[in-house]
Amino acid sequence: MAAKAFSLFSIVFLSCSILAASSRSLGHPRSLIQAAAPAIPAVRDADLATPDARAAPANAPTVGVAPAAAPDATPSADAAPATASIGASPAAPTGAAPDTSGLTVFNVKTFGAKADNKTDNAMAFIHAWIAACKNSTTPSKVLIPAGVFVAGPTIFEGPCTSPKPVTVEVLGTVVSTVDPSDFVSPEWFSFEHVDGLVITGNGIFDGQGPAFWPYNDCKGKSSTCVSLPSSLKFNVVSNVIVDGISSLNSKQFHFHIHESKNFTLRRLTITAPRNSPNTDGIHIGSANLVTVSDSVIGTGDDCISIGEGSTNVTIFNVTCGPGHGISVGSLGKRPDDESVSGVSVTNCTFKGTTNGARIKTMVGSSPREARSIFYQDLLMENVSNPIVIDQSYGSSKVRFSSKSLWKISDVHFKNIKGTTTTNSGVSFDCSMKNPCEDIEVADVHLTFLPTRKNTTFFSSCSNANPTFSGTLNPPACADA
Ligand SMILES: *[C@@H]1O[C@H](CO)[C@@H](O)[C@H](O)[C@H]1NC(C)=O
Ligand SMILES: *[C@@H]1O[C@H](CO)[C@@H](O)[C@H](O)[C@H]1NC(C)=O
Ligand SMILES: *[C@@H]1O[C@H](CO)[C@@H](O)[C@H](O)[C@H]1NC(C)=O
Ligand SMILES: *[C@@H]1O[C@H](CO)[C@@H](O)[C@H](O)[C@H]1NC(C)=O
Ligand SMILES: *[C@@H]1O[C@H](CO)[C@@H](O)[C@H](O)[C@H]1NC(C)=O
Ligand SMILES: *[C@@H]1O[C@H](CO)[C@@H](O)[C@H](O)[C@H]1NC(C)=O
Ligand SMILES: *[C@@H]1O[C@H](CO)[C@@H](O)[C@H](O)[C@H]1NC(C)=O
Ligand SMILES: *[C@@H]1O[C@H](CO)[C@@H](O)[C@H](O)[C@H]1NC(C)=O
Repeated sequence: MAAKAFSLFSIVFLSCSILAASSRSLGHPRSLIQAAAPAIPAVRDADLATPDARAAPANAPTVGVAPAAAPDATPSADAAPATASIGASPAAPTGAAPDTSGLTVFNVKTFGAKADNKTDNAMAFIHAWIAACKNSTTPSKVLIPAGVFVAGPTIFEGPCTSPKPVTVEVLGTVVSTVDPSDFVSPEWFSFEHVDGLVITGNGIFDGQGPAFWPYNDCKGKSSTCVSLPSSLKFNVVSNVIVDGISSLNSKQFHFHIHESKNFTLRRLTITAPRNSPNTDGIHIGSANLVTVSDSVIGTGDDCISIGEGSTNVTIFNVTCGPGHGISVGSLGKRPDDESVSGVSVTNCTFKGTTNGARIKTMVGSSPREARSIFYQDLLMENVSNPIVIDQSYGSSKVRFSSKSLWKISDVHFKNIKGTTTTNSGVSFDCSMKNPCEDIEVADVHLTFLPTRKNTTFFSSCSNANPTFSGTLNPPACADA
């Protein structure tokens, strides 16, 4: 999906998060976030101050140093100041207290957040982030404790000056505001320019998708639509672990990893209805070294989509369904789309999905490549199109005479079992101009559950010339 500014709606409120989001969509440096963040006075019990606090780093002269408070600071840290409110200057204490793992904890409640399922807590979250990311000399953690916290657009901006990584622990449920005019940019939670990040906890990000899906105009269209916000967007972020988090009913993508590197995402639960528009579970674009594992993804679009410019993507032990499968692509939507290489999808289960293992390219205006792609040890349960290369994606009229300029090569589909519901168990529709090369199909044993009278079960190969071996059902392409 093209990352255009989400500007369907005029800015109605002048809230801090709107200011912050505007600064980004106008391409300005994020100084507004700093400017909008009031200086937080060092209000805390004198006996909690530790004498050995180091001096502020020279490159952050306006930001003081948060001394590590004693463990018994937690009760006072939890007391939210009565004056804190969105848009006003919260007189929050620094509220830092170490937890059992030795991390200095910045509880969002200390910064004015209210678990009342009503207050927009975006500013409190941002203030807690700034303290943890830019104002701590010790390894630090933003804590979103148990409870229901409403939040509008929230930007967690780096680079951080605190010791790496910064942790965000989510125990509560974070619920999006539902007024589309709150969102001037296509992200709900946005992590930007951060090196070293851990997002953990059993908390839930509830994007309130049903309030936004009627505004989606991207379904079925190519490049002219305006993107709705992703629930968690990572832009120029590196060395990240996301563990245990749940995402519910995203507006568009649940997770969007962009221009980033070295991500480990595991034990995620991603949920949205089968018919929710463009709710890809994890969309990866221009990212290197991404591992997704041990996760359950059921959504309305691709469970995982590996977009242009992605390299070294490893996916294992993921259950996908409902959804559109685990896809490389779509590629070639825009002229500057970059090549994709090094994708491995193993030990995954697909349940009732419209596709399983899929590579999809559009026509594209420059010749690029998708290569070194391994789909192996997969279980299909009631999947419509289990094995697909579709180089006519987005243009059904030219099916099987694809003019795509993209070259697909070194692709392996091995040990794929289970059940399928369409006649064409293996479907390769490759480019006429750049036929697929080194496509391997080995040990594909699928059982066809016909839903219509025609029970012919076959493989189709157009401009592909694959190598078939081992047990094969459907049988190999006639001319292969
Ligand atoms: C940083 O921490 C210091 C010491 O706790 C505090 O005085 C200062 O207000 C904090 N600044 C910000 C921007 O949070
Ligand atoms: C939050 O409030 C909304 C109404 O504004 C309600 O529908 C929803 O059930 C509440 N959520 C929780 C978890 O209490
Ligand atoms: C990737 O990030 C992890 C921390 O999340 C780090 O331990 C590891 O060294 C990084 N790997 C590379 C290749 O940078
Ligand atoms: C696979 O992931 C599930 C969670 O979806 C987990 O319970 C299970 O232990 C994982 N399997 C392996 C072999 O790690
Ligand atoms: C990642 O992918 C690139 C391009 O395919 C490759 O050169 C590199 O060696 C790979 N490995 C790592 C660890 O980045
Ligand atoms: C796949 O699953 C099998 C059996 O559960 C396990 O032995 C193997 O290590 C797994 N491989 C990967 C890449 O997850
Ligand atoms: C297969 O999936 C279809 C929907 O795609 C569903 O209606 C049907 O009940 C499923 N059958 C089985 C055996 O799971
Ligand atoms: C079944 O479908 C295949 C592919 O669409 C077609 O080639 C074949 O002729 C059909 N068989 C019958 C009996 O209609």
